[in-house]
Amino acid sequence: MNYDIKNESLRTQGKKRIEWALKRMPALEQIRERFKKEKPLKGLTIGACLHVTTETAALALTLKAAGARTLVCASNPLSTQDDTAASLVLDYGIEVFAINAEDNKTYYNHIDAVLKEKPEITLDDGADLVSTIHKRAALGQNVTLPWASTEETTTGVIRLKALQGEGKLLYPVIAINDACTKHLFDNRYGTGQSTLDGIIRATNKLIAGTTVVIIGYGWCGKGAARKAAGMGANVIVCEVDHLKGLEAIMDGFRVMPIKEAAKNGDIFITLTGDIHVLSKEHFPLMKDKAIICNSGHFDVEINIKALKAMSISKKEVKPLIDEYTLKSKKRIYLLGEGRLVNLACAEGHPAEVMDLSFANQALSCEYIAKNYKKLKKEVYKVPDAIDNKVAQLKLKAMGIKIDKLTAEQKKYLSSWQEGT
Ligand code: ADE
Repeated sequence: MNYDIKNESLRTQGKKRIEWALKRMPALEQIRERFKKEKPLKGLTIGACLHVTTETAALALTLKAAGARTLVCASNPLSTQDDTAASLVLDYGIEVFAINAEDNKTYYNHIDAVLKEKPEITLDDGADLVSTIHKRAALGQNVTLPWASTEETTTGVIRLKALQGEGKLLYPVIAINDACTKHLFDNRYGTGQSTLDGIIRATNKLIAGTTVVIIGYGWCGKGAARKAAGMGANVIVCEVDHLKGLEAIMDGFRVMPIKEAAKNGDIFITLTGDIHVLSKEHFPLMKDKAIICNSGHFDVEINIKALKAMSISKKEVKPLIDEYTLKSKKRIYLLGEGRLVNLACAEGHPAEVMDLSFANQALSCEYIAKNYKKLKKEVYKVPDAIDNKVAQLKLKAMGIKIDKLTAEQKKYLSSWQEGT
């Protein structure tokens, strides 16, 4: 632990906020109660590189309740909630290596601090632990490989599948993102809401009547488009995929290339997972006072270097808002340094939705502990049994009952003959 905690009020605030999140994550709570009794992770060390939020605190406490020593570092330099980190360390005995706005060197020192403890299981959000281990192994350094890892996010899963494709993946990984109870809810409703939340907290801008340009119509983009429309925005979607473009049209949005959207938008949100989606050919086309931000995992989607190079000045005009003035005197406002706007400018996804994602994480850790010897060096889906269990636990916690097939209906579904 290298967190300097002198501020008692920070710790107290963190504790209250963690308790608030815990109360709103009932699926994870049911798992934690079982883990307390069964201790499925007894004696293991778990290293987690996740956004250090109150929801991550709830997951860390679940892993600890299962008997694991749990170490946490940040998966993004701007997303750490220092009050949460302080309380996790002092009130709950979780080892945390993270501080908000840490520089690049500190960020990687913190990753190193977790890896030094040789975790049997690692949890990633963006694949930084896995890629650090793989880079070191490629350099011939002496690294202890985990039994297996989990990966939370779309971007991380893409990186890991690329590693597997090159035949270089050194141990199994479970792609949490690919679970239905993850991406259908966290990406769509979580990113959807928290992206708008980040923009509003940073700018206090009225969304009704503005033109919001959504770049990327995956689950996150779909969520953000729906929320923006729900708040009265006029939504334009930009895509490179024909199917998704068609989907956006049928969902009721305008679809056009970014160069055209650039002239129309008041707020631009990138959610593609790709590099330089907004770049030098787009900035001069934008209106004066256009707002640009990113909700994809890495800060590469907006070409900030190009924006800086073509600007005559840059200044912070409000916390987490940088004003870039172009030669034409047009001003462009960049939120949260182009990092994940929902975590840099707000608190990330609400606890209710992280409940589902982290229930998948907790159950996948248990699955790894039981099955790691049978797993190959591959990226695996979350087992369907876990995905279904998470949905079942959540519905139960919400007090919602659903129907069961009758014996006659089951028989009918398993027969190839039509009629009865
Ligand atoms: N990713 C997005 N929102 C998050 C949250 N609240 N906690 C942890 N990871 C997140």
